[in-house]
Amino acid sequence: MKRFVDLADCEREQVLSLLELARRLERGGEPRALAGKILGLLFFNPSLRTLASSQAAMARLGGSSFVIHPGQGSWQLETRDHAVMDGAAAEHVREGIPALAAYCDALGIRAFAAGKHLQSDLAEVTFNAMASLTDKPLINLESAVNHPCQALADWKTMDDLGVPRGGRFVLSWAWHPRALPLAVPAAAVHMAAFRGMEVVVLRPEGFALPPAIMERARRAAAAAGGSLRETASRDEALEGADVLYVKEWGATDCYGDAAADARLRAALTDWCVRAGWFAHAAPECRLMHCLPVRRNTAIADEVLDSPRSVVQRQAYNRLPAQMAVLYQLLRD
Ligand code: CP
Repeated sequence: MKRFVDLADCEREQVLSLLELARRLERGGEPRALAGKILGLLFFNPSLRTLASSQAAMARLGGSSFVIHPGQGSWQLETRDHAVMDGAAAEHVREGIPALAAYCDALGIRAFAAGKHLQSDLAEVTFNAMASLTDKPLINLESAVNHPCQALADWKTMDDLGVPRGGRFVLSWAWHPRALPLAVPAAAVHMAAFRGMEVVVLRPEGFALPPAIMERARRAAAAAGGSLRETASRDEALEGADVLYVKEWGATDCYGDAAADARLRAALTDWCVRAGWFAHAAPECRLMHCLPVRRNTAIADEVLDSPRSVVQRQAYNRLPAQMAVLYQLLRD
């Protein structure tokens, strides 16, 4: 494996093997596996878990890492092709990424969606352009419509907790003061379908996931013996649910139009997950969220602080998942 940019690039056996490797590495025993190896991290956007787990994973395997936040102690980087660079950016990624890649053995990049043009974000134009600038092993640390490291950790979390492979996985939209990217919902819905689950996307009108994202997940479900559908009915979606995976995202009916998005979401503040949402779910139904989460806007305290919540288990699993990905990329 030379790149980890999309879980959909992996065969099912490769994912299962990565998960087995993550379980082995989390038990310790290979503290020098990546001795002498260096991971370069390029973060165009903020992070807590992805940044810390990537650096901790390298350290736990005997390697080291450096991190660049463009514009914060380093040059601001331009990503647009053919830009006339008379603004804040002093350097283009066409020079910056090859330079960084020369200093390390693998590179991780986080670059969120621009959030203006849906087709451009769906095509991963910015991330793919940067990926083409290096042939070093590459990790997608969250791009416009993907977050494969989160997806791998979430799959492991469900395995750890004994969530049935064919169980019902409900991905629910939740309220947030502004439009957030599609990366996590797209990755989560694909991951659960790939795992073979009965996947239901619960979202209000105007917030349907784009057809390209649904179709990709539908193909994964078909291959794994799972299913995928969407609804705006909370009662119908949550009946018998084994997992409620909560995520906030922007209105897709008016993608890139912040004012129209704000008008749509203004009436949806009741999409804050409360204990009552679980009334007809399976008794052991788990609450998942990738974090960060805003308390009492997306999810109420009573749910986040309840035994249903496995958000800390998800966050913990970012570390063994990251160790497995790095081990695969740098030991082959
Ligand atoms: N879930 C996740 O990617 O968290 P961070 O944005 O803190 O890295």
